[in-house]
Amino acid sequence: MRVLGIETSCDETGVAIYDSESGLLGHALFSQVDLHADYGGVVPELASRDHVRKLLPLVRQVMAKTHTRPSDLDGVAYTAGPGLVGALMVGACAGRALAYGWGIPAVAVHHMEGHLLAPMLEENPPAFPFVALLVSGGHTQLVEVRGLGDYELMGESLDDAAGEAFDKAAKMLDLDYPGGPRLAALAEKGDPKRFTFPRPMTDRPGLDFSFSGLKTYTLTTVRKHALEDGLPDEQSCADIAAAFQEAVVDTLVIKCRRAIETSGYKTLVIAGGVSANKRLRERLETGLSKDGASVYYPRHEFCTDNGAMIAYAGSLRLKAGEQSDLAVDVRPRWPMTELPKTER
Ligand code: KG4
Ligand code: ZN
Repeated sequence: MRVLGIETSCDETGVAIYDSESGLLGHALFSQVDLHADYGGVVPELASRDHVRKLLPLVRQVMAKTHTRPSDLDGVAYTAGPGLVGALMVGACAGRALAYGWGIPAVAVHHMEGHLLAPMLEENPPAFPFVALLVSGGHTQLVEVRGLGDYELMGESLDDAAGEAFDKAAKMLDLDYPGGPRLAALAEKGDPKRFTFPRPMTDRPGLDFSFSGLKTYTLTTVRKHALEDGLPDEQSCADIAAAFQEAVVDTLVIKCRRAIETSGYKTLVIAGGVSANKRLRERLETGLSKDGASVYYPRHEFCTDNGAMIAYAGSLRLKAGEQSDLAVDVRPRWPMTELPKTER
């Protein structure tokens, strides 16, 4: 089965073709980072308009690069949520219309299910069941994954998502959007021990997270050490970045180990933008090896938004007999636990 995948839920236009026999045939991504940089964050209307401009050229490009004709395709998968409503509508309308025009099924894909399954595109994929830590700009969730669509939420952030906290802390240090990777790079030059930031909600049982206090703590520390221009000196900024990253990573590691212990599973999958964080990967690998568990994550470029994860998730959903009807329906808010379970 060969599936065209379309991702337009936020600020990246992603297109890919996945073949269940031969694997990922090709993919392309256009990031809108430069477009939103002047505003310090994603401007939804600009995002939608840019998806309109970039999506079809990217589809043509991937089809040409992979020598795929419409008649070679068995379906079109598009992200239907969660995400920005206008941005989602662009991918959903285009995906639905292409499938209709080509006389093949279309399938609506859940963006976070896409992230969750992305490590399965790798050479040594994880097998069900496992615990997944989904860490993106909009979500921080621990999920028990028993099979495709068989998800139980174990814990989640009660306020900011981990990626959102990274982005906000980065802004306090005057780093450009998107702040997460920039803060991580600055942290490499810092001393994580100079400041000790709190590890929120780790001193009580449970698997929920809260990152908004950490944001306030960062702001207080920045202000306390600020020079005349409102920012601490370069080394102090790096030390604050390192202390912040260490606190987020430590908190995530503590909760992941707890989730692995609770589930009794030996596999942890991490996915979503923050799973690209090097320190998080290192710390999870060392932490979980003590529990005899292994960590799986996608290759770097598939940690953040991309079309490949949507094409792959769509192929599994289509194989399970799902397809969307002719109405174009998007769901900006869409709990993953509402997805249909498939037979195993
Ligand atoms: O999954 P994603 O591309 O989009 C959403 O679905 O939200 O995640 C984007 C988030 C942003 O908050 C970004 O700052 C964060 O992932 N991120 C990182 C790193 N790379 C991306 N955060 C920390 N360290 C990184 N290396
Ligand atoms: Zn995402």
